[in-house]
Amino acid sequence: VVDIRNLYSETEMFTFDPGFTSTASCESKITFIDGDAGVLLYRGYPIEQLAEHGDFLETCYLLLYGELPSAAEKANFDYRITRHTMVHEQMARFFQGFRRDAHPMAVMVASVGALSAFYHDSTNIADPVQRMVASTRMIAKIPTLAAMAYKYSIGQPFVYPKNDLDYTSNFLRMCFAVPCEEYKVNPVLSRALDRIFILHADHEQNASTSTVRLSGSSGANPFACIAAGIASLWGPAHGGANEAVLKMLAEIGTPDRIPQFIARAKDKNDPFRLMGFGHRVYKNYDPRAKIMQRTTREVLNELGVKDDLLDVALELERIALSDDYFIEKKLYPNIDFYSGITLKAMNFPVAMFTVLFAVARTVGWIAQWKEMIEDSGSKIGRPRQLYTGEKRRDYVPMSKR
Ligand code: ACO
Repeated sequence: VVDIRNLYSETEMFTFDPGFTSTASCESKITFIDGDAGVLLYRGYPIEQLAEHGDFLETCYLLLYGELPSAAEKANFDYRITRHTMVHEQMARFFQGFRRDAHPMAVMVASVGALSAFYHDSTNIADPVQRMVASTRMIAKIPTLAAMAYKYSIGQPFVYPKNDLDYTSNFLRMCFAVPCEEYKVNPVLSRALDRIFILHADHEQNASTSTVRLSGSSGANPFACIAAGIASLWGPAHGGANEAVLKMLAEIGTPDRIPQFIARAKDKNDPFRLMGFGHRVYKNYDPRAKIMQRTTREVLNELGVKDDLLDVALELERIALSDDYFIEKKLYPNIDFYSGITLKAMNFPVAMFTVLFAVARTVGWIAQWKEMIEDSGSKIGRPRQLYTGEKRRDYVPMSKR
């Protein structure tokens, strides 16, 4: 708590908490994290159970509506999402304006924001029906836009949605099908990616979600808010960590070199950190990392791929988890530790890793945005600052400076 009476004429005090390490910005009923125990619940349901038994659209329904759907509700929800997967044909022309080598995240920020120019009805956030239509549109169109961003970056024609496929299989097809060649979705890979989407669907008030809420608190339309969330996610400290893990594992190269990297991570004069280890909230094993490790093995087995990076990762985890430094500082593998290996095996280029994260997190952003709009007590977000600049001083004419 900072006493501001010597700084301002105000009589109040306020808290100074850079990085929001101990300040709650809202109330929420969506996601619960117990970082010390390594627990993650969506609407009360453990992430392990949802990833094992559910599918991604069921998780979307749960996050949006608060309850698991009945069979009829699920069928209706799947149908509604499927009906909205197409984007306006003019969107394809919008894409042509980007440089051929544009980063797919740059394209995502722009194209999702541009949806507000196509769906004027959905920008009416005062109408609960339109809020739900906007939510449906966003969840349905994000994979289409993500696949278009990928296809554009590699110079291939866009693949239109095929709506007799499930959500994730449809996405894989839009990414990897090519004209004149038959493409059959591998159900093991589709299930694995669907599970990865479930693991990334929400994570309470992280940087991108807080960005969505702050943007939305002014009454901005949902497409603009999600575009802001995507921009925040793009940062390497947030969505880009799995890429850093891959680079580190490649640099380590072979298990016998691990001890020297562990020693570097412990050396306070060396800025090197073990990427994929540690988390602001989890001071225990990230529950998502366990599921991700299993998913990595399933994907590599299915593809018959032997990736030496997995051997390095498993050995690194084993050594680090028995090292006093990591035990004492409660540094465990986080979700990013294994996700890069999995996505690479599935043939996604590194530039697409964060895009996949955005596809999955869209439902979390939307659910949090809706919760905020529907909370009668919510206010425009307006943090204070601790001013450390010059005191009042008089203007000096240029001739006297
Ligand atoms: N390797 C070595 N030491 C580490 C690591 C690491 N990966 N992470 C933290 N530490 C040490 C710090 O040096 C610090 O030591 P000190 O107490 O002697 O100063 C202590 O552990 C606490 O670290 P902080 O940086 O203060 O913890 P914070 O909660 O702010 O950071 C973070 C969490 C950013 C994730 C950090 O652990 C890190 O940099 N990890 C590597 C990057 C990474 O994997 N990021 C992905 C996060 S998950 C996600 O975004 C989905």
